[in-house]
Formats: sequence, C-alpha cells, structure tokens
Amino acid sequence: MAYVSENFWHDAVNKATTDLFTFGYKNIIKPNFVFNHTPDVAHDQMIEFCNVTKRIPPLMWLLREMLDYTDPVLETTVMGVDFANPFGLSAGLDKNCDMPVLMDNVGFGFETVGSTTSRASAGNPKPWFHRLPEYDSMMVHVGLANDGSDKVIDRAEQAWTNAKTMQVSVSIARTNDDKCGDLDEGIEDYCISMRRAAGRSAMVEVNVSCPNTHAGEPFTADPDALDRLFTELDKIERPQPTLVKMPLNKTWPEFKDLLDVLAEHNVQGLSIANLQKDRTGLEIPQQWEGGLSGGPCTVASEERIAQVYREYGERFAIAGIGGVFTPQQAYRKIRNGASLVMFISALMYRGPQQITVLKRGLAALLKRDGFEHISDAVGIDA
Ligand SMILES: Cc1cc2nc3c(=O)[nH]c(=O)nc-3n(C[C@H](O)[C@H](O)[C@H](O)COP(=O)(O)O)c2cc1C
Repeated sequence: MAYVSENFWHDAVNKATTDLFTFGYKNIIKPNFVFNHTPDVAHDQMIEFCNVTKRIPPLMWLLREMLDYTDPVLETTVMGVDFANPFGLSAGLDKNCDMPVLMDNVGFGFETVGSTTSRASAGNPKPWFHRLPEYDSMMVHVGLANDGSDKVIDRAEQAWTNAKTMQVSVSIARTNDDKCGDLDEGIEDYCISMRRAAGRSAMVEVNVSCPNTHAGEPFTADPDALDRLFTELDKIERPQPTLVKMPLNKTWPEFKDLLDVLAEHNVQGLSIANLQKDRTGLEIPQQWEGGLSGGPCTVASEERIAQVYREYGERFAIAGIGGVFTPQQAYRKIRNGASLVMFISALMYRGPQQITVLKRGLAALLKRDGFEHISDAVGIDA
C-alpha cells in the first residue's frame, strides 16, 4: 500500500487541503450553513447532505484523495479487527446509517452506527440539542430515535461490505418507547438486536448508559442486572468482538463492580464513556434536559481510562471517548490506555477535516516520541 505519509506531494496536498478545509469550515461553513440554524435543523441538514453527496462518486474520490491521511504508524489491530487508524465516529450522530460512505472517504478508521433499538422509535420530544459553544459542548436529549435495528443493521452490513477501508460497528440499545416493560423485557429487547447484529459488522457495542430514556439505566444501576443481561447475550453466538458503552458518572467502586461483572462475560472492549451528566460549575439553563458532550467529558474520561487500564490491563480493549478535539487529547487517551479513540463533538465544532487534523497530529506525536506503532504507546502513562 502507498501511504500518504511516504509520498512527498500527496502529503503536501493533504496538509494544504486540511488547512484549507479548517479555514473554510471555521469562517464560511460553520457561521453561514451550520450555526445559523438551530442544532436540530443543522443535524437534519447534515444527514441530508451525506445522503446527497454519497451518490456522487467523483466527489467521494476527490475527498479521499484530498483528505484521507494514511500512515503506517497509525495502523492497528484491536480485538482482532484491523484498523487503518484508531479514530472512529462515536455512536449517536449516525443513528440510521446514512453517513458511512462519507466517513469512509474522509478517512475514519471506523464508524459506530446507531444506537439502534429492536423497535423503531421517535425518541424524545424536540428540541433534541442545545449548543454550548463556550464549553465546546452539546446538550443531547435525543432518547434513541432511530429506524429500528432490523433496517439499521441491514444498512450497516451493506456499508461494511462496501467500505473501502473503514470498519463499521453497530451500537445496540434498549428501545425507548411506552412499550418498555420490566428488566426481562429489556433484556429480550437487547437480545433481539444482538441476534440481528451477529456476524454482520466488525464490532458490536452494547449501550447500557443512555442518559435520556424513560426506563433510566437499570443495567448500570445494579451489577446483578448487568450480569443477567450479559448472561443472555452470551447465548447469542457472534464472531465479532463486543464492546460495552459505559457511563461517565459513577464512582470508581461502582464502576469497578460493573467491570467485574463484564470481565466474566463475552465482552472484549469498553467504550469510555457516554455523555456527562454532572453540570457542576457550568452555566446551563435548568430546563435544558439531557447529557453533555465535548469539553465537559475530556478530563473525566481520561482519568477513567487510566484507572481501568491500571486495574484491568489487557482484559479489556478500551475505546476512549469524550471531548477529543486535538491530537494531544487523543494521544493522552491512548497513553492512558485507550487503543481506539472516538469522537462526535469535534466533528460538529471543527468540521469534517478534523479527522485528518487528528491523524496527522497523532502520527507526528507518536514519531516524536519514538513509537513505531500506535499500539506501543497504549497505556504507557497509566
Ligand atoms: C448528537 C449526539 C447523539 C448521541 N447519541 C448517542 C447514542 O445514540 N448512543 C451512545 O452510545 N452515545 C450517544 N452519544 C454520546 C457519544 O457517543 C459520545 O459518548 C459523547 O458525545 C462524547 O463524545 P464527544 O465529546 O466526542 O462528543 C451521542 C452524542 C451526541 C453528541
């Protein structure tokens, strides 16, 4: 394979276009086409944009030529899955699987589609989003709106088959609607989606930590409930690795109790973590419901990643999530123990070229510190 990093001209073009996109997004696109709309409208338009542009192959080819930065130092194999780079789109931005063609061509290592649920769901009443630019954050209260895992997983499988380099993961969650019943009903709900996902994506992520549902978070409130859920999920044969999307706001003893349960089950990875619920020190209107993305997650998730890596070592692969805007922040998560890094807010606040900014910057940091492969840096500071 010819790497961009090893071709002087391609590397120069990649750097110049990335700088140009960074300037264009900040000064033209964001103020005139994104932040001039409410976040709910901007989100719908972004999905629409992906659905239109993905049907224009020359545009996709051009995007790949200009923006996809490849470098052997970024290649990695985690949980048996090969990645061109460690960066993934975190669950929630692409609930119905409209974005993989674009994400593949701009150079994401993987995308997490979903969260999707056994039944289609309209989610919570709108507004789903509030912007908090002073904190590089978004208040999120979607409540798992999606087309249902039968449809979404069909699309994800197709996207995975057709992707040129990107891996596709599917996030499954419990349906958020008025049919929601007791714990057994919730377990069966997850099992339906897991049966649909088995063997049809590179990875599957079980989201037990959505902060925005009627049913709350019974599977993280009680380790026994989590044990019951994974005892049933273990019965579903699947070749792909399973990650669990963890909550951010637990004390270490509470968090550890959950991990001790997961360590006994067919779980290979942890996604750390979901949205921030703690608003301490932040000026946010009380009536705004939901969890916080971006800035308010950065430090809490870094610390949790290091704690988990120190205590559990190689038992779980860690996908580090929360407030990654710069290569330095990604690098810190990796040095603290994350093998993969996911983000959403950086895409919304900085633009689609941020994947290239992160890849180029991380490759430079790894080389500066003498690492030949990203995997050599994982957990070095934990
Ligand atoms: C618009 C939006 C929707 C989200 N929906 C989901 C979801 O459906 N499932 C999930 O596990 N996490 C969801 N999240 C949480 C993200 O996956 C991620 O954990 C969080 O945003 C922190 O990453 P960030 O700081 O890079 O945005 C959502 C976040 C955002 C911003």
